Amino acid sequence: MHDIVQDYYGKQLHSTDDLKTTACCDASAVPAWLKPLLAKVHPEVLSRYYGCGLVCPQLLEGCRVLDLGSGSGRDVYALAQLVGNRGEVIGVDMTPEQLAVAEQHRAWHAEKYGYSNVHFLQGYIEKLGVLDLEPGSFDVIVSNCVVNLSPDKDAVLRGVYRLLKNGGEFYFSDVYADRRVPESVRDDPVLYGECLGGALYWNDFIRLAHRHGFADPRLVEDRPLEITDPKLAPRVGN
Ligand SMILES: C[S@@+](CC[C@H](N)C(=O)[O-])C[C@H]1O[C@@H](n2cnc3c(N)ncnc32)[C@H](O)[C@@H]1O
Repeated sequence: MHDIVQDYYGKQLHSTDDLKTTACCDASAVPAWLKPLLAKVHPEVLSRYYGCGLVCPQLLEGCRVLDLGSGSGRDVYALAQLVGNRGEVIGVDMTPEQLAVAEQHRAWHAEKYGYSNVHFLQGYIEKLGVLDLEPGSFDVIVSNCVVNLSPDKDAVLRGVYRLLKNGGEFYFSDVYADRRVPESVRDDPVLYGECLGGALYWNDFIRLAHRHGFADPRLVEDRPLEITDPKLAPRVGN
């Protein structure tokens, strides 16, 4: 599954406009507090945004934040402004093309913000333990539309729990289904890449969270997704 997803985000998609569902937020859905932060993010980084919404606390000054599946770095560069020069934001992604865009604009952002507090690491979110990240060292871990793409969600939550400080929090947006997704949807590479095939049944997610020590998972906001590509819609089966 990693190869399919890497190919999708590294080679098939070139910009937000290539997506085939409304999983990716439209501009009107960007919350007011985020708009001034995004105004200071490089246009090429913004053009390769494939998320379904950044969920995070806004008071993060001085915090250490990790972004799982950071893509071209939109959220990392927004968070960099919230944590300020005493904080740090690290983005992890497995796809070289996505990381290259993020990395390419690091100096541009450092100059714009007046400080450099961002790092990107190539790696799998199921194997956070092999990256040079100290256990119990992050105040907040975020992820924007990535956990569904993981073939081993148990490993992801286990790794997140290990890296969070005592009292730290995991904030993420993702795609969920109101039933277990059938095999035909799970095995379709485009549906998987579009964040539908790997979507968890909501109740399975709650069980998974509890299993890994997240005692009190909370839903902040939700909305139904629409499949905007007419060729793709029948493949979902409804
Ligand atoms: C839907 S995009 C979201 C990217 C970014 N969060 C954003 O909002 O633009 C999914 C990203 O997660 C990365 N990704 C997917 N599965 C991954 C995994 N198992 N390990 C590391 N990165 C992964 C992909 O390479 C891609 O950049």
